[in-house]
Amino acid sequence: MALREILQFPDPRLKRVSEPVTEITEEIRELARDMCEAMYDEPGIGLAAPQVGEALRLFVIDTEWNDEDTERNAEVLINPEFIKKEGKTTWEEGCLSVPDYTAEVERASEVTVRALNLEGEEVTYECTGLKAICMQHENDHLDGILFIDRISRLKRSLYVKKRKKKLAAEAAE
Ligand code: NI
Repeated sequence: MALREILQFPDPRLKRVSEPVTEITEEIRELARDMCEAMYDEPGIGLAAPQVGEALRLFVIDTEWNDEDTERNAEVLINPEFIKKEGKTTWEEGCLSVPDYTAEVERASEVTVRALNLEGEEVTYECTGLKAICMQHENDHLDGILFIDRISRLKRSLYVKKRKKKLAAEAAE
């Protein structure tokens, strides 16, 4: 089966605010499976449904996985809600939808997130470190926000310029 294409900036579909999942159907389970497959293939540690063109409040993460030898243990979060955000921390972030770029982003250092899993059960995640960052980054995708929307206007405009130049060069080839 072909892998789902991951949309890249400046695709306008990345800017949409996603709708809650109303029922966990076979289609939703298939979407989650496809997203995990695409995430590991890249590889990445998180992927949100809008990144594969589905405007649904769902993301997958696996912040423990880092190479071919580690066991895959993806978690699927459906209709996630942040019930606690505390502290501040800064991490160098990247995104599968924002090619050739990383930047430091300030976020909460501790978060508690409540979401449904694929069985429809409510799960509460208390996270710190990379997992807390990843949860916030992926949840942002559900609101149409990319990490480059959280950096300075100057840094962002430099990236946008570079990206447009690259796309123009590719189109001219
Ligand atoms: Ni991302």
